[in-house]
Amino acid sequence: MLHGKRILLIIGGGIAAYKALDLIRRLQDQGASVRGILTKGGSEFITPLSVASLTGDKAYTDLFDLTDEAEMGHIRLSREADLVLVAPATADLMAKMANGLANDLASTALLATDKPVMLCPAMNVEMWDKPATQRNLKTLLSDGATVVPPGEGMLACGEMGAGRLAEVSDIVEAVIKHFGSETKPLSGQLFIVTAGPTHEDIDPVRYIANKSSGKQGYALAEALRDFGAKVTLVSGPTSLSVPEGVSFVAVRSARDMLSAVEAALPADAAICVAAVADYRVADQANQKLKKGQSDFSQLALIENPDILKTISQVGANRPTLVVGFAAETENVLENGQAKLARKGCDWIIANDVSLQTNVMGGDENSIIIIKKDTYKTFDKMTKKDVGNLLATHIKDCLIK
Ligand code: C5P
Repeated sequence: MLHGKRILLIIGGGIAAYKALDLIRRLQDQGASVRGILTKGGSEFITPLSVASLTGDKAYTDLFDLTDEAEMGHIRLSREADLVLVAPATADLMAKMANGLANDLASTALLATDKPVMLCPAMNVEMWDKPATQRNLKTLLSDGATVVPPGEGMLACGEMGAGRLAEVSDIVEAVIKHFGSETKPLSGQLFIVTAGPTHEDIDPVRYIANKSSGKQGYALAEALRDFGAKVTLVSGPTSLSVPEGVSFVAVRSARDMLSAVEAALPADAAICVAAVADYRVADQANQKLKKGQSDFSQLALIENPDILKTISQVGANRPTLVVGFAAETENVLENGQAKLARKGCDWIIANDVSLQTNVMGGDENSIIIIKKDTYKTFDKMTKKDVGNLLATHIKDCLIK
């Protein structure tokens, strides 16, 4: 989503500065290149060396460093960026910006830049609520800055309230949205995404299901939508809200899901994220089965249709790209590779769902993208970030 985008990240002096390191990685995952400026306070919380190691560039800290100014003047630094991102934006930095002060490298670059500025405030709740800070915020907004608002909760100082740096994934999303208005690389492409579990009814009140929350499939559908794709999201029962801007088809059983997917063809790509129940009961009862009168020890099961395999082998109507997921609890790579061959799809996204990973129902995932002859392993990240990462890979595959 951020391919070719240059981001100047200004890291202010607050405890949330440590999150800037993760932010650098997540922006890079989306294809952005990042340069870092640390304020004096910022350098108290994280070292310039960490920032330099992650960005693969110098960490810029000093306005009066002759070497810095000779190699890369503060004006050039502020101009050679597509976006200036301030995270964490402290009360002090915001006050300087609102008043046009320029007495260190960060504030000078902010005053000198001709590029959009995005602020991610983080501070103590009293500091955030103070009329002075709110006045400065208003000024900065009317000066054209955008703000990723701080979250509420327990702050590092032990107090409760607003002032916590926004989640890294929300900041990445705001940056993508900022650039999204410029480029929609998947405009006009039709996508089918399956998500959530399926429920296979035993009788009117009982069913067989699995633990899928639907979060990963929904996050991917949203990321593809943000890339401009026309997405049909075929979802089993979940507690998530229907994403805006996608065609949503609610289904219950594996057979309903297959029908809905077939009805949505033809498509450019089909991404099967759903955790489909492998089996359904052979004889679904119309009335509630009574304990004692029914033999629950002998519930006969029959195999469900395999949606991914069917779509992978659908002939002329086969989407250009068919992707499946493999939720595994052991030998993740090997099982994923075997699944790729068995299903006939183009890629398998394998992930470890063993209990200790907390992936099932959780907000994070770590994936391996498996293709015919290659694979790539990624660090743990939020399901939202996985959605954006996959959308980027899919875009690179479909748009030459
Ligand atoms: O065979 P297994 O369930 O492990 O394969 C997982 C992949 O296959 C996922 O992409 C899932 O959406 C898809 N699948 C399917 N229909 C089934 C079973 C799995 O589409 N009946």
